[in-house]
Amino acid sequence: MNRIIFATGNKDKMREIREIMADMDVEIWSMREAGIQVDIVEDGTTFAENAIIKAKAVAEHTDAIVLADDSGLEIDYLNKEPGVYSARYMGEDTSYDIKNANLIQRLEGVPKEKRTARFVAVIAAVLPDKRVLTAEGTMEGYIGYAPEGENGFGYDPILFLDEYGCSSAALSREQKNAISHRGKALREMRALLEENM
Ligand code: IMP
Repeated sequence: MNRIIFATGNKDKMREIREIMADMDVEIWSMREAGIQVDIVEDGTTFAENAIIKAKAVAEHTDAIVLADDSGLEIDYLNKEPGVYSARYMGEDTSYDIKNANLIQRLEGVPKEKRTARFVAVIAAVLPDKRVLTAEGTMEGYIGYAPEGENGFGYDPILFLDEYGCSSAALSREQKNAISHRGKALREMRALLEENM
């Protein structure tokens, strides 16, 4: 059976990929389960570059299929900031309450139609023959005027979704997984793997 190693240490991401790829004829392993440990410098300038950097670094240690992801928030009015720096914005250890308040403040006085923003996720795959595939998903919304909601993490409280009339942090986990950038990218990657395996 084909084996997929997902280059993440994040339990929620492992659960999501296992749910989405559950009925494929593959075994899905975390890096830890595969006994692989690598220090990866994510110095790409796009989500795709960073996802490929991570997947290739892990693929040096295995002949299994390796998947890696990179994601973040793009705010159009701020020239797509924080983008690939989403986790590092204002410092890795700064709380998201502070980061979210800062971004809302930087949009002070900006009307709703110019507050468009999205979460972006790119999943990269390195196949056993070292071919590289990528899949991208987005979750479109706008930056609200005050944070809202207790679910989710990171920038969820400030990305509002017109269809739901609330922030991403006000959605249940199931609702968010069904429409999330990562869910879309994972489902597209699943289809690509089925074509290429
Ligand atoms: P990474 O791809 O796990 O490195 O995540 C990058 C950063 O993007 C996270 O630390 C969050 O700040 C942000 N981010 C990515 N996806 C989401 C999401 O679904 N909700 C909220 N923030 C997110």
